[in-house]
Order: sequence, then structure tokens, then C-alpha cells
Amino acid sequence: MSFLNIAQSRYTTKKYNSSRKIDDDTIEKLKEIVRLSPSSINSQPWKFTFVADEKIKSRLSEFSFGNREKVLNASHVVVFSVVKDAETFENIKLAHLPEYTAAYYNRVLKPTGDEQIMTWLTSQVYLSLGFFLSATASLGIDSTPMEGIDTKEYDAVLQADDYKTLFAVAIGYRDEEDENQPTLTPKFRLEKDDVIRSI
Ligand SMILES: Cc1cc2nc3c(=O)[nH]c(=O)nc-3n(C[C@H](O)[C@H](O)[C@H](O)COP(=O)(O)O)c2cc1C
Repeated sequence: MSFLNIAQSRYTTKKYNSSRKIDDDTIEKLKEIVRLSPSSINSQPWKFTFVADEKIKSRLSEFSFGNREKVLNASHVVVFSVVKDAETFENIKLAHLPEYTAAYYNRVLKPTGDEQIMTWLTSQVYLSLGFFLSATASLGIDSTPMEGIDTKEYDAVLQADDYKTLFAVAIGYRDEEDENQPTLTPKFRLEKDDVIRSI
């Protein structure tokens, strides 16, 4: 499938077929793809937690507001987290990066302060979301990006000490009757002239 076809056909799945699971090979591919996501100065300030365990999925579903059924019925839930603060980033990530990268961080980013650094780190994780959503569609997997979750409660369930949850993505296969699929509900986007400028 061309990338244009992927963009036209992928959509936010609202109803999953709970009896269809993603096979292990495909999950391994997705893990490798998301690991390869690009990030500014190759900072990689993330952790991706792939949840297949039904008991954990069930616990997470309790803290997923309107996304509860998606979390329960999807094959897997992937939780995207960012390193919890600037100091932890410097200790556990920056140490692995080349000297010139650390030098750039220390010269340009560190002086902006902790809040600004966290905004920058968080942006990198959102970039990996875009990469991941396209990848899932290219493999014929349906997905739901979800900010509508209680991130603090997710942290309590997942206990990834140095990381905090930003959002999650349910992945699996759609229920045939999912009303949100583009064949039933055409995709809504602003017109090209509203969002693209050519000069
Ligand atoms: C960061 C992010 C968070 C989102 N959170 C939710 C969510 O919690 N629940 C949900 O059903 N859809 C969620 N969406 C889906 C968007 O509403 C959807 O992408 C948008 O309406 C465009 O529709 P499409 O993905 O079907 O093309 C989210 C999307 C993004 C990118």
C-alpha cells in the first residue's frame, strides 16, 4: 500500500474485535519500528510499554474514561511514557549519547529551564506516536491513540519508576461494524487551502 493510501485508510478505531489478537511476529516488528523513531538530537526520552496481559489491560481500562471498551477489547495497549524529569534524562539518557549531543543539550536546552526541557522531551514522544500510527496501518493493524486516560493511575499500575505516562495506543483489529471506519464515516479534514501554503 502506498503511503497516500495508508493516510486515506487509517482511522481511529472505536470498536475492536476482542477475539482477534495480533501475532507475536507483528508485535516484534512494531517494537522495532517504534524503537527506530526519530527524535531531536537523537534524545530518545521515551519508554514504550506493550501490554498484552488481560489482567493488566483490565486494570488500565478502569482508568481510561470513554476509552474503556477499546482498552479491554483491543489486542494490545501500548503506553507511551516520557522520562520523568530533566535530571533523570541527563542521568539515564544523555550519558549514552555522543559528546556533541550532550554539548548541544547543555549549551542550548539546559539554560531554558526544567519546564521547557520537559516540553521539548514530551514533543519527542509525540513524534514517535505519528511514526507508530503510520507503521501500524502499514502492517494492517487498527489503532486508537488515547490521551483520554488517567495518566497518574496508569503510572500506578505500570510502575515504570523513571518514566511518566503521556498517552496510550490501543492496537488490534476493528469490529466489522465499527461506525468510525472511513467506508462508513468519511474522514473529516480541513481543506488543502486552509492548511497548506505554497510560496
Ligand atoms: C494525541 C491524540 C490523542 C487522541 N485521544 C483520543 C482518545 O482519547 N480517544 C479517542 O477515541 N480518540 C482519540 N484521538 C483520535 C482523534 O480524535 C482522531 O485522530 C481525529 O479525530 C482524526 O480522526 P482519524 O484518526 O480517524 O483520522 C486522539 C488522537 C491523537 C493524535
